Amino acid sequence: MKVIHTIAELRATLSAAPAAPVFVPTMGNLHDGHLDLIRRARELAGESGSPVVASIFVNRLQFGPNEDFDTYPRTLQRDAELLTAAGCDILFAPSEAELYPEPQGYKVVPPSELADILEGAFRPGFFTGVCTVVHKLFNLVQPRAAVFGKKDYQQLMVIRNMVRQMGLPIEIVGGETLRADDGLALSSRNGYLSEAERAEAVQLSAALQAVRAQITQARDAGRLDGGAVLALEEATMAGLRGRGWVPDYVLVRRQRDLLPAADAELAAGEPLVCLAAAKLGKTRLIDNLEI
Ligand code: PAJ
Repeated sequence: MKVIHTIAELRATLSAAPAAPVFVPTMGNLHDGHLDLIRRARELAGESGSPVVASIFVNRLQFGPNEDFDTYPRTLQRDAELLTAAGCDILFAPSEAELYPEPQGYKVVPPSELADILEGAFRPGFFTGVCTVVHKLFNLVQPRAAVFGKKDYQQLMVIRNMVRQMGLPIEIVGGETLRADDGLALSSRNGYLSEAERAEAVQLSAALQAVRAQITQARDAGRLDGGAVLALEEATMAGLRGRGWVPDYVLVRRQRDLLPAADAELAAGEPLVCLAAAKLGKTRLIDNLEI
């Protein structure tokens, strides 16, 4: 695998490639969830000659003032070894001075109805930071396809929306969430958890599974409506609070646009997703489950 730190070298390398790349953007501190996206990219590249390109860049623009930008784990050497083993061809790991040589005055601001709900309501400006860096990385890498994890369900949705509205010729592929044996979704932030917190962390995915079971049961019994969904969301938040969590949200939404489903849609089997974010100690975890 070739490790590239500058835009000039990235351009020179990619212009010599036989086909446009398949791209996996990350912030590093890689785990098996990231590597699964690389394997997916490898499959998508197939025999086309498309190189698989990963990026590692901890993007200051998407961190709030009280978030973990400074302490976000930077493990480039180990990441490069994992990427090589997973079949990545090129790692683009620019410095901040390389990607943002001057303050990034031009931003890509996603539509409020998509970006100011759920994660966006608790992390103001987060999706503007994500869209700005992903759009810039897309311009630099010029991939024909890019892979994003469903772990960050709303992010995948926002990126699909950006690509569609901006007319970018890039296929966006969603990768399934990889989980630990006990169900905890793999995340770079899991490393922040103490041993006791790690044992408790399983309760977030367990809560989502319980929501899914109850939604399915209520729907099958013909008694799923907005009131039942709201009661379930609130009971789930209360359950987490009772165990010492500080939940930001537990919400059941339509898969297609992350808005609440109407009663008629709930009854008719509208595809849903339950999304949750909650703090355990100092660590904020997110997860979701499709229903
Ligand atoms: P990061 O958190 O490093 O995640 C990089 C990619 O890995 C994202 O598409 C994310 O959804 C995916 N991912 C994380 N955990 C996963 C899991 N357990 N299973 C499957 N996929 C998983 O998301 C970002 O970085 C940044 O916002 C970025 C898009 C790189 C822009 O800065």
